[in-house]
Amino acid sequence: MKKFILALLTPAACVALLASTPGEKMPRPQYDEKGQLLRPADYREWIFLSAGFGMNYSPAPDSHEMFTNVFVQRWAYDEFLNSGKWPEKSMFVIDERDAASRSSINQKGHYQTDLTGLAVEVKDSARNPDKWAYYGFDADGKTARAMPKGNACWSCHEAHAAVEHTFVQFYPTLKPVAKKFGTYNEAREQVADAK
Ligand code: HEC
Repeated sequence: MKKFILALLTPAACVALLASTPGEKMPRPQYDEKGQLLRPADYREWIFLSAGFGMNYSPAPDSHEMFTNVFVQRWAYDEFLNSGKWPEKSMFVIDERDAASRSSINQKGHYQTDLTGLAVEVKDSARNPDKWAYYGFDADGKTARAMPKGNACWSCHEAHAAVEHTFVQFYPTLKPVAKKFGTYNEAREQVADAK
């Protein structure tokens, strides 16, 4: 019966149907036939972890400061609340936005404007020997290839993140949870030179 229904659908719809077996928590990372990650469409409806403004990992001043907003799927967030750990197929999105200051009634301070790109991180051991994979999307890019092994993304997250590969030291609602479950690496709070 399932085969019959699949025969009536377009190939893309078949992939979507097969990819989401009943009971699986969605959304989860989806890949095209070349193994590239599909841009997560609805991430602005996921759980918001935090925003950064002008965060920079090197001491050199940056002339153009940007906002970053971090999101994770709701079901992965819920599992983290119950365990202090990230489940397989967790996916994190940083949405990078330009900053502006003087406009309308605003006199000082900064607000967010246009999207400049998306950085995505996925925990998917079945697909990645290093468990965590990293992707960069242009402002309107639809697919992205995983960064090659040994990339700067993986190494910096491995060396400096407080919980597994994630920077929970900067996510105020998750930090107490990870501390409670003993999955928080306190040493990662030390002011460090990024490598
Ligand atoms: C020099 C260190 C460094 C490098 C290199 C780096 N990141 Fe990060 N990344 C961070 C920090 C610090 C945060 C926390 C940012 C925040 O709170 O806004 C972060 C957060 C993230 C997050 C949000 C989830 C999390 O892990 O906390 C994603 C997604 C992400 N980075 C993707 C990437 C990708 C993709 C690359 C490579 C293109 C990359 N990062 C390179 C330091 C780094």
